[in-house]
Amino acid sequence: MRAMDSAYMHWAKFKQPVRFALTMSEVPHFRMDRLPLSLADLDMDGASHPRYAPLRERIAKRYGVPTEQVVAADGTSMANFLAMAAMIAPGDEVLIEEPTYEPLLGAASFLGAEIMRFERKPEDAFRLDPAAVERMLTPKTRLIVITNLHNPSGVLAEEAELRQIGELAAGVGARVLVDEVYLDAAAPPRRSSVHLGGEFVATNSLTKVYGLSGLRCGWILAEPALAERMWRLNDLFGVNQAHSAERLGCIAFDHLEEITGDKPAMLERNRNLFNAFVRGRDDIDCAPAEHGITAFPRWRGGDTQRLDDHLREKYDTAVVPGRWFEMPDHFRVGFGMRANEFEEALSRLGSALDDLR
Ligand SMILES: Cc1ncc(COP(=O)(O)O)c(C=O)c1O
Repeated sequence: MRAMDSAYMHWAKFKQPVRFALTMSEVPHFRMDRLPLSLADLDMDGASHPRYAPLRERIAKRYGVPTEQVVAADGTSMANFLAMAAMIAPGDEVLIEEPTYEPLLGAASFLGAEIMRFERKPEDAFRLDPAAVERMLTPKTRLIVITNLHNPSGVLAEEAELRQIGELAAGVGARVLVDEVYLDAAAPPRRSSVHLGGEFVATNSLTKVYGLSGLRCGWILAEPALAERMWRLNDLFGVNQAHSAERLGCIAFDHLEEITGDKPAMLERNRNLFNAFVRGRDDIDCAPAEHGITAFPRWRGGDTQRLDDHLREKYDTAVVPGRWFEMPDHFRVGFGMRANEFEEALSRLGSALDDLR
């Protein structure tokens, strides 16, 4: 049965809100009206603008790639779907990391792919292991799917590992889709995998690291012929994007430094607080968080749905239960909070863990 929904996304959208949402995987939102902009900047003349060049040019410039390699999409979500739709046909084998962000599985399933998995092991700190990919690769593999940084663990895949996977893919005529929505939160930021060769396709947006999820400004980077295929395919889906959003996207790219602000320092401070918290507990296992906005610790107490229920009920706090990432004894914690709030959230998490001992 092919997927016709994403149970995780539905849960993520409509779960009961809490005061301390350690579920969040995005930095605090950025109000775009803090930037010097006027209504005229939104160019609201009613027209749509196919492949709106100013936005593509800004994205291309940021990555140092030709504009022919840039496809715009509504968020990384549509970028992933469009990229997959352009690369896989029903019955194709798609090799996806485990654990992973559930909508990636859903999109591949919806497109009729034969889904295979390779492991990112907790005992190996969720490292991307090319040998694990190689073990599951077959001559029928058409696409390998990775998140970098890894969702849920936040672990960075370095270029050497990605290159090896690129070579494995090239050996069977497959491509590698790398969801890079968290990559700009690597410390320090790393360059996109699109620079590693024509078999790589990267997706990203201004959502997680820039706090602009509402803008839905996403993109795909791919070699030009494949990018063209995606543009053509999009004529069946969204045709064009909302033009005022494209204009806002351009303005955001022109002010990315201001939008980024002190977020990298905030994330680093929260990661350090979290690492100290983990070191102080004997009921949680987690490699030190070095990058990004999330970590995925293991709780020795078992199914973390129980932990989340208790956190919600008694502490107005929540984590993402590991069942959403196929590992029920883990839970995901997000670092995208102002430091004093994060300290309070950690303290509540500690109290809940103590209660459940
Ligand atoms: C790995 C990954 N990709 C994509 C998305 C969705 O991002 P966007 O808002 O850009 O569609 C998320 C959001 O949780 C994510 O974790």
